[in-house]
Amino acid sequence: MSIAPHALYPYVYVFPDLDALSHEAADRLCAVAREAVQERGVFHIALSGGSTPARLYRLLAEPPRSLQVPWENTHVFWGDERCVPPDHPDSNFLLANTALLSKIDIPPGNVHRVHTNEDPQHAAVFYEQEILDVIDPGSSRFPRFDMILLGMGDDGHTASLFPNGAELSEQARTAIATSKPGGWDRVTLSLPAVNAARHVLFLAAGAAKAPLLARALHSPTPDVPASMVRPTDGTLAWLVDREAAAQLD
Ligand code: 6PG
Repeated sequence: MSIAPHALYPYVYVFPDLDALSHEAADRLCAVAREAVQERGVFHIALSGGSTPARLYRLLAEPPRSLQVPWENTHVFWGDERCVPPDHPDSNFLLANTALLSKIDIPPGNVHRVHTNEDPQHAAVFYEQEILDVIDPGSSRFPRFDMILLGMGDDGHTASLFPNGAELSEQARTAIATSKPGGWDRVTLSLPAVNAARHVLFLAAGAAKAPLLARALHSPTPDVPASMVRPTDGTLAWLVDREAAAQLD
């Protein structure tokens, strides 16, 4: 579905519902995957967690899209992970593995989950090293993912970068340990690692996102970490449904 961007926000696309935006996300992902493999022989993607991307993952797991992604040349990472076992209901790995990865023919060595059996600090160090082993940063400070999928929490967090968290000032590390206030310890890509991506794609749906979406699209502030995602030399797009877009001017 090719739709015009929002009149006031040129990188925001408003869809009737989650299903429609998920189809668009799947088409965009397939296009970036093919382009990356054509140009560099490999597609590096970081998946998001939460519930919003589940429909997208299911779409990617079935034809025609499952046949459009060059899975043998695709390396899958996560933008963030909860420090729980991979079979825990809160695991972001479990969400993607159940809906997608267990249903497609991707080499097991191409799936790079966070090793949450380690303590968070060690898990972050090991995860960062695995990223750097697969995505050579070359002369850049950060490895460059071809695509990073993100969601936004009702509090404006994205990945596991939480409002006014110390993690927002990290400028050297690619992956760091954080924790959700009152929740799980986490491992997350750092903000500069996210902003190094070629393509950042936010998915947001539902009325609960509406108050923070308007703020996320305005000037970057640590109060709303999603507002701080501004790719340095990449594209940014928000695919949202009408409910989430209800408070945009
Ligand atoms: C996480 C996610 C997180 C998520 C948002 C939105 O591990 O919590 O990565 O950043 O994307 O919280 O979650 P929903 O899609 O469930 O609204």
